[in-house]
Amino acid sequence: MCERSGCRSLKGIIPTFLVLLSIALGNERGAPASIARMKNPVTSSPELLEKVQATYEKNCLRCHGAGGTGDGPAAATLPTRPRNFTDTKQMATMTDGQLYWAITKGTQWMPAFEKKLPDLERWRLVCLLRALSKTRPNATVQRENRPSPAPPGMTGQYPFWPKRLTAPR
Ligand code: HEC
Repeated sequence: MCERSGCRSLKGIIPTFLVLLSIALGNERGAPASIARMKNPVTSSPELLEKVQATYEKNCLRCHGAGGTGDGPAAATLPTRPRNFTDTKQMATMTDGQLYWAITKGTQWMPAFEKKLPDLERWRLVCLLRALSKTRPNATVQRENRPSPAPPGMTGQYPFWPKRLTAPR
């Protein structure tokens, strides 16, 4: 039907395109507007923060660190630095809904917790992140919402690397 080489290149292009598309969609940083503007259904309290600490230690500490500064034991193996939750200025640029969305769907180098943690527990984690960052609950979307800056010596995000591949050294 078609020339051998032509068929081969087409066969290569379609899966490549699909892979890139799924990566692009899977790495969607921005939460849908309706979620970005959501109010946290959970009200923070010292008791709540104490309880959700255990969830953080079990699921987040290895990358984000005990103090939330992004220096957990696994952080060095990642090509980008996990978000520093104590960075008040940067954390203030994200709404509760955007934080919730990142935890739910994961990011480029962070796993999704949609199936691992119940919905309300993910919202409770948002309360914890607010406490760590000394920022207030926030449902107002700002334009200034940038990814964490890459640590020195790294070139930043690697948008086209599938999660299963490790970064070149
Ligand atoms: C495997 C390491 C890893 C784990 C585990 C992890 N994260 Fe992350 N997280 C990252 C990295 C790396 C980033 C920076 C964005 C990127 O490069 O993917 C990040 C970014 C974030 C962000 C900011 C997202 C954005 O859009 O800027 C939030 C919020 C977050 N993590 C919350 C959590 C919470 C809460 C947990 C535990 C439930 C968790 N993370 C577990 C690695 C991790």
